[in-house]
Amino acid sequence: MAQKYPKPMIFLHWLTLLLVLTAYFSGDYPPADGIVGEIHVASGICLVFLLLLRIGLRVYYREQLPKHLLTRWQHIVAHSVQMLLYLAMLLTPIIGYLTLTADVDDFRLFGITLPYFSLNLSLGKAHEIFANGFIALAGLHAVAALFHHLVLKDNVLKSMSPH
Ligand code: HEM
Ligand code: HEM
Repeated sequence: MAQKYPKPMIFLHWLTLLLVLTAYFSGDYPPADGIVGEIHVASGICLVFLLLLRIGLRVYYREQLPKHLLTRWQHIVAHSVQMLLYLAMLLTPIIGYLTLTADVDDFRLFGITLPYFSLNLSLGKAHEIFANGFIALAGLHAVAALFHHLVLKDNVLKSMSPH
């Protein structure tokens, strides 16, 4: 049985964390934030592409994923949180994009005007709620990983560690 996630999955996992933190801490009001706003939008858009790559890798490596010795409930909770994280990685940027293009129709990202796509709905509040929910979920997931490592002293955190 595999003890660790395949290297490309580990790489994408930690790169995702970096992008989520970048998006979160650069989030305010991109059209008025200059380069910080561009970094916000770029990190959010990159996250969606990484997500697609990640889903592909998860399917490709489905027979090689580590299986931990968890109770039935631990397994259900961990899996549900992971699936919600996948959903948040998709919906937060999409709602962000809709918010942006409802507010402005010529946002330039590093010199290139983003394709305009708007439902003409003001979704700023929804985007903020999703972003906060996303960070709370990621925090819960990280605390659970640390609990496994420090208290239960099992292999869960090591299975995702780069070394
Ligand atoms: C997972 C990725 C993302 C996270 C975690 C995130 C997070 C945030 C946060 C925390 C705010 C500040 C909300 C507030 O306090 O008012 C914000 C605002 C905003 N973000 Fe994002 N964001 C992400 C992706 C995106 C993307 C991809 C876009 C656009 C293409 C975007 C566009 C916006 C806009 C337009 C606002 C201003 C909303 C308003 O106040 O009306 N975001 N974002
Ligand atoms: C300090 C922060 C984090 C720590 C310590 C951490 C730790 C871990 C560990 C130990 C695993 C393996 C768990 C298992 O096999 O059941 C894992 C898997 C996973 N983590 Fe995290 N994580 C962190 C942040 C994040 C963030 C920010 C996201 C999403 C944006 C995320 C999404 C996932 C997903 C979806 C999996 C399942 C494996 C996969 O499909 O790639 N993690 N994480």
